[in-house]
Amino acid sequence: MMAVTEELQNVPPEKLVVAGVSKWFRTSRADVHALDNVSLNVREGEFVCLVGPSGCGKSTLLNIIAGLEQPDAGQILADGQPVTGPGRERMMMFQESALFPWLDVLDNLLFGLKLKPNLKRHERREVAQFYLKLVGLEKFMHANIHELSGGMKQRVALARCLAPNPRMLLMDEPFAALDALTREQLYGDIQRIWEKRKKTIVFVTHNVREAACLGDRVVLFSPHPGRVQEEFTIGLPRPRDINSVELAKYSTEITRALKRHLKPEAAEVAE
Ligand SMILES: Nc1ncnc2c1ncn2[C@@H]1O[C@H](COP(=O)(O)OP(=O)(O)O)[C@@H](O)[C@H]1O
Ligand SMILES: [Mg+2]
Repeated sequence: MMAVTEELQNVPPEKLVVAGVSKWFRTSRADVHALDNVSLNVREGEFVCLVGPSGCGKSTLLNIIAGLEQPDAGQILADGQPVTGPGRERMMMFQESALFPWLDVLDNLLFGLKLKPNLKRHERREVAQFYLKLVGLEKFMHANIHELSGGMKQRVALARCLAPNPRMLLMDEPFAALDALTREQLYGDIQRIWEKRKKTIVFVTHNVREAACLGDRVVLFSPHPGRVQEEFTIGLPRPRDINSVELAKYSTEITRALKRHLKPEAAEVAE
C-alpha cells in the first residue's frame, strides 16, 4: 500500500533546455537540413506547443529531446543534465497510439510498469487502474484494443505514458487523427490532467488553434531548414475552450505570423 501511495505522488516536473540543436539527414537521394540552430527553454511544469507546417522538423526535435535521436550540433539538457538516451523521465506519445493489439487495456499499461522493480504485481495493477480512471477508462480495463474508438485508444496511450510517472511528456500530434468532437473532449482532459499531475509538456502540432488552446507558449517553426521563428505567450485562463472568441484572436495572430514566415510551396496548415 505504501509503495503505491508513494508511486502515485507527483514528481517534480523537469526543466528543459534545447541549446543550439542542428540536425541533418543524409540519404542517397538528398541532404536534408532538418533543424538549424534551434534553441528553446521550457520551464518546470510549462506546457509548450511547437507549431509549424509538416517537414519543419517538429518530430525530429521531439525525438532528439526524447533521446531517441542524436543532434549533429548542440545539446539537450534536462534539469541541467545532458540527455543521452531515452528514459522513463520523458515519455513520448504519438499520433497513432503505439499500443500492443494482443494485450488488453490493463496489460498495455502494466507493460510500461514492468520497469518499476519496486512494485509488486498487485501494486502495479493499482497504479494502472489509477491512471485508467484519470483518463476515464476504468470500465474498459479488460477491453481489447481493437474494440476501442480512436479517441479511447489515445486515452489508453496517454494513460500508458503517465503510468511510469515521468517528469515530462512529449506529444507528437497526438490528436491529429481524431474527429473534431473527440479532439475537443481530449483538449479538456489533457488540460485537467496537466493541472493535476504537474508535468512539463512539449506538444507538437500543425494545428494553430489547438496550440493556442493548450500552450502557455506557442513556438512557431518554419521549414527548410527547421528554425524557431517566433514565440507567443497565451495569456488566457484555464481551462480553455477551443471555440472561445479570445482564443480565436490568438490563433488568427499566430496564423498570420505563420504565413509571413512560410515559403509559398508549404502552406498546408490548419487554422
Ligand atoms: N529518418 C529520416 N531520414 C531522412 N530524412 C528525414 C528523416 N526524418 C525526417 N526527415 C526529413 O527531415 C525534415 C523534418 O522532418 P520531421 O521532423 O518529420 O518534420 P515534421 O514533424 O515537422 O513534419 C523533413 O524534410 C523530413 O523529410
Ligand atoms: Mg511530424
